[in-house]
Amino acid sequence: TKLWKAEGNGTFLSSAIAEAGVVIARGGTVAFPTETVYGLGADAGNTEAVEAIFAAKGRPSDNPLIVHIANIGQLDLLVEEVDATSRLLMERFWPGPLTLVLPVKVGAVSARVTAGLPTIAVRMPDHPVALGVIRAAGCPVAAPSANRSGRPSPTLAEHVRTDLDGRIDGIVDGGPTGVGVESSVVVVEEGGRLVRLLRPGGITVDDLKAAVPEAQIAFEAVSEVTEAPRSPGMKYTHYAPRGRLVVVQGSERLRTEWVREAVADAKRAGDRTGVLTVAERASLYEADLVVGCGREDRMETVAQELYAALRRFDDNGITYIVAEGYESAEGIGLAVLNRLIKAAGNQLIRIGESES
Ligand code: TXA
Ligand code: MG
Repeated sequence: TKLWKAEGNGTFLSSAIAEAGVVIARGGTVAFPTETVYGLGADAGNTEAVEAIFAAKGRPSDNPLIVHIANIGQLDLLVEEVDATSRLLMERFWPGPLTLVLPVKVGAVSARVTAGLPTIAVRMPDHPVALGVIRAAGCPVAAPSANRSGRPSPTLAEHVRTDLDGRIDGIVDGGPTGVGVESSVVVVEEGGRLVRLLRPGGITVDDLKAAVPEAQIAFEAVSEVTEAPRSPGMKYTHYAPRGRLVVVQGSERLRTEWVREAVADAKRAGDRTGVLTVAERASLYEADLVVGCGREDRMETVAQELYAALRRFDDNGITYIVAEGYESAEGIGLAVLNRLIKAAGNQLIRIGESES
């Protein structure tokens, strides 16, 4: 696996980007930073290259990939038609962390990309390295997150190395990503009157409401594990650390007590214990590893640090982790809570006053 590194001042050798693009154009797989997480890219039209992504990640083949474009002209190659609401959303949020599911143009990409669906997920990332690599590749680039399937998504090139070194052709190291959780995935339905949020992410429900005030925004937090998921990725365990993880929600007082007791119990049972909380609250707990992930008063910092925090528990051999869930899931908090609950395999504990 070839490693291209950013210059000290953060500007990129354009030759590194050009080389990475050529590797993709020739059917290789290259990981590169986006504004959300690192993606593992390949030519979306090349079935063998796309298969190499699935193989490197160990990803189930019925889980379709997001196709990344660098300019709006590339969209016409991929999709049949764009409804007015989707058009408004791309004008407002592209480049940026919003993925739109649209009717696919037959034969535009390998059937492996769409997993045989009549739709395709497309986004234009807001990152100079990602845009540069796609431009240099000269084709739409299929790119899921650059982690082994089931592991937390990578927000540093180091995470990609840990998971995929030796399994892919190259990694472009552009430093830490920005948002820290993946793009929001939406599909527009009912003639533009409904925007269905399939995966919460970098673009919030309020952002969507502001952009298309006439449309209704729908998100079903609990419909994620169903027989026929709307977005195939939703049925898989994601982002999971190796230890058992539970997420606990409730008033601050009860939650603190519950976490302390759960950690004490687990210690007695022989576990190596971990607590995932925010910086302000880290000193409240005693465990083998307490991670203050971001600041509660700045949820975007929690999102930025979340996946690196989950990986730290693995690195420290933690076997039991309690994560504090937050009461309000507004803004990017919705995506953070969604990822935490998925990481916990849907193990969410809600403590109410009545149980005290
Ligand atoms: O921020 C991101 O979106 C990152 C970076 C690398 O761009 N990419 C990413 O890709 O998270 P991935 O493959 O890990 O997630 C793709 C998600 C999955 O939940 C998948 O099921 C959904 O998009 N998806 C893809 N195609 C779809 C389709 N045609 N209909 C519904 N959902 C689709
Ligand atoms: Mg992923």
